[in-house]
Amino acid sequence: MAKPPLRSQRSYGKIDRDGFIHRSWIKATGLPEHVFDGRPIIGIANTWSELVTCQVHLRELAGFVKRGIWEAGGVPIEFPAMSLPETQMRPTAMLFRNLLAMEVEESIRANPIDGVVLLGGCDKTTPGLLMGAASVDLPAIFVSSGPMLNGKFRGQDIGSGTDVWRFSEEVRAGDMSLADFMAAESGMSRSAGTCNTMGTASTMSAIVEGLGMSLPNNSALPAVDARRRVLAHLSGNRIVQMVKDDVKPSDILTREAFENAILVHAAIGGSTNAVVHLLALAGRVGVPLDLHDFDVIGREVPLLVNLMPSGQYLMEDFCYAGGVPAVLNELGDLLRREAVTAWGKTQGEIAAGGEVWNREVIGTREVPVGPSSGVWVLTGNLCPDGAILKPSAATPELLTHRGKAVVFEDIEDYHARIDDPDLPVDATSILVLKGCGPKGYPGMPEVGNMALPRKLLELGVRDMVRISDARMSGTAYGTVILHVAPESEAGGPLALVQTGDEIAFDGPGRRLDLLVDEAELARRRQAWEAARAAPKYDRGWYRLYIDTVMQADKGVDLDFLVGKSSADVTRESH
Ligand code: FES
Ligand code: MG
Repeated sequence: MAKPPLRSQRSYGKIDRDGFIHRSWIKATGLPEHVFDGRPIIGIANTWSELVTCQVHLRELAGFVKRGIWEAGGVPIEFPAMSLPETQMRPTAMLFRNLLAMEVEESIRANPIDGVVLLGGCDKTTPGLLMGAASVDLPAIFVSSGPMLNGKFRGQDIGSGTDVWRFSEEVRAGDMSLADFMAAESGMSRSAGTCNTMGTASTMSAIVEGLGMSLPNNSALPAVDARRRVLAHLSGNRIVQMVKDDVKPSDILTREAFENAILVHAAIGGSTNAVVHLLALAGRVGVPLDLHDFDVIGREVPLLVNLMPSGQYLMEDFCYAGGVPAVLNELGDLLRREAVTAWGKTQGEIAAGGEVWNREVIGTREVPVGPSSGVWVLTGNLCPDGAILKPSAATPELLTHRGKAVVFEDIEDYHARIDDPDLPVDATSILVLKGCGPKGYPGMPEVGNMALPRKLLELGVRDMVRISDARMSGTAYGTVILHVAPESEAGGPLALVQTGDEIAFDGPGRRLDLLVDEAELARRRQAWEAARAAPKYDRGWYRLYIDTVMQADKGVDLDFLVGKSSADVTRESH
């Protein structure tokens, strides 16, 4: 039976006034008549931007994707998508992840394309691109930016983010001079590409491979490695075939794919941010996934990858050691092997081709880099809808702890008082930060790994239990309890904590409790409600976001974006 014509032919194949309009204005971009004969039209959604190094090379990389598309008999058409530079945007790039997802979704749906190549890499661009593409469900493949080269400073490797946090604590403790601190800046980020630690960008690109949404090795190949250009070319080849075979995100993004992503996340000691991104993506494709899946599925896997912040090495080392295919191989019988991928092979087949070249960097399940890590999902009266913690980044002695709260009402309050010599704090205290959730900040910024009080740093204290409704950078570490839901701004019990309250954290038992009696909490709630201020943001994206954003345990997507809509648009534009 003959296949129906492609979606693009509903615009470019029409022999009438509408076809004239669609063709005339696209041919004038430099495309000859004959390419509109029914071959696949492939969009390239490109988050290229000069605002950050993570995506600055993507126009060049798009050129290699185009070669591959032409070679396979398709027509490449590149279009821009919002860039979300993690280190530049205020109040946080996360505020705009869902905006990128909306832009990508509607750009794909509204234009006469048959499939799409997603180009991005910085923390929030990867989930934003995936979420948008998943909600249209046309064939899609991911080509990541690739990590930047290892950072170098005075003969040592230094890692994006992780060493910023470490150095800045050393400066505050008086162990590093400010001049040395500034000198490390240009050695840390010294090529195009995403952060070279296992931060959120590297975590999300590894997860793209774990989900099966890219070719193998998409995650670890350095941004400037010639083989990334080859991978871009091959991805261009592949998307044309995916269109011909009608392989859609919904065919790839199954429950098994998400389970593989969680296994990979645990094995690499991935960023806590992946939790909200995977929950949001699962919501788009309608796969049942909840917070506890991360703890339960991830528990099966020890830490296999020795990368900062949980370990020692950087993404270049991970690439040379075998990258994600090698990790898939080490997962062995835990891997959901039948899961299909954008490559057309199963994850089991990809794993079979993975090999480890450096046992310092990638361990085995028998001799792992560290114990079972992943994320711990906590519940208790302080976080009725959950909170998370990354045990591989925490201090083991603090994973069970009881202490008195030192509360900061918002980030300004924290900055104003943290170094106050009179702050009633000691090494056993628990720092509590409010007002940093999705609605509160807004956008749920990466401030959960609050720096410690200077007076304790000077005494040699390097970690404390910290609790907030914020996220933390994937490059950060510490005994940091994050994503408390509901957030304080939404009236979660976090809003009611006061300095001096006792808090019990039982990591192994997965509990987080505020030891204040019910009657007192009810009294505080009444006072909290009476004192609520009028909303600060009354227009634009901020308002839409605050009015509709869901809590961390639901992935921080906007409530009306959950699910997907058809790629069909029947009405013409003129
Ligand atoms: Fe873009 Fe880290 S700032 S990946
Ligand atoms: Mg970040």
